[in-house]
Order: sequence, then C-alpha cells, then structure tokens
Amino acid sequence: MNQLNKILTVVAIFLLISCGGSQGEQQKEENSASSRDEIRLRQYKVQGAKIYSTYCANCHQDDGKGLAALYPPLAGSDYLLEDFARAACIIKNGQSKEIVVNGVTYSQMMPGNPISNLEVAEVLTYILNAWGNEGGLIGVKDVDKWIDECEEDY
Ligand code: HEC
Repeated sequence: MNQLNKILTVVAIFLLISCGGSQGEQQKEENSASSRDEIRLRQYKVQGAKIYSTYCANCHQDDGKGLAALYPPLAGSDYLLEDFARAACIIKNGQSKEIVVNGVTYSQMMPGNPISNLEVAEVLTYILNAWGNEGGLIGVKDVDKWIDECEEDY
C-alpha cells in the first residue's frame, strides 16, 4: 500500500467508527446525567450527615425523631416533606413560630445556621433521605433560588 492509500484507509475507518458512535448518543447522555445525579446524591448524603451531626443532631437527635414537645421530628415529618423550599429557609434562617408537625404543635425557637447554600443543599438532601424519608436530591441551584425568596416573617 502506498502512503496515500494508507491515509485513506485510516480516514475511512475513522469515519466508520465516528458514525457508529453517534447512534445512541442521547441514551448515553441520559445515562451519564442520571449517574452524575446518583454520585451527587451519595456525596450530598455523606457531607450532609456530617453537617447534621454538627449543627442539627443536638436538637433533632441522631435518629431524627426530635425531642418531646420541644424539637419537632424530621423523620417522617409531614411538615418537612410538604415544602422543600420552606425547609431550606428554616435551615438557613431559623424559625420561631407555632407550627404543627405530624399533628403536634411546636413553638420553640430554632436558630439560623452559619452554613453556605451548598451545605444547606447537602444537609437537606441528607434529612430528606435518612430514616426512611424519600425526598431525593436537592440541587444547590434550587437552594439559591429558594433562599433568595424566603419569607421574612420567621
Ligand atoms: C436549638 C435547637 C435546634 C437546632 C440546632 C436545629 N433545629 Fe430545626 N427546629 C428546631 C425547632 C424548635 C423547630 C420548630 C420551629 C418553630 O416552631 O417554628 C425546628 C424546625 C425544623 C424544621 C421544620 C419542622 C420539621 O420538623 O419538619 C426543619 C426541617 C428543621 N428544623 C431542620 C433542622 C436542620 C437541618 C438543622 C441543622 C442544620 C436544625 N434544624 C437545627 C430546633 C432546632
């Protein structure tokens, strides 16, 4: 084979490979997007667990069941699961008004937390996926938006 033939053969093989590769490209993208989310979910849960034990477990307890009539539960909390945006605001800014969680009224003060929006996303992802809760992944972009729009009257 002369030099030109070799080059043409290489080009032909390259074209074949790249055409074949474009099939199922969308499928591949979808798969890698969902595996990225799965990796992020795992990372957020690990990071979130650390933040939880530093900033939250004192009151809400390791098992997320809260403490008597003082601190509401996060495990199976109807209040938590019905509004993730509100939960992000409470975690960041604290809250001290009367609320009803799973039929029980709570009115103690929860202080705000000196943590970044990323850390809010991580700890919120953790509490939404611990103790049997099934809330999925909370992204930091959503948290940014929610924190910007928090109501003032906490
Ligand atoms: C000093 C105790 C204390 C700490 C620390 C604390 N909380 Fe709370 N939390 C409370 C109290 C009290 C309420 C109820 C506030 C109210 O009545 O408005 C509450 C309410 C909540 C709620 C909404 C009610 C529910 O049960 O679903 C969420 C969610 C929550 N806390 C998450 C967290 C997370 C996450 C952290 C850590 C980043 C944290 N809290 C740290 C005391 C605390």
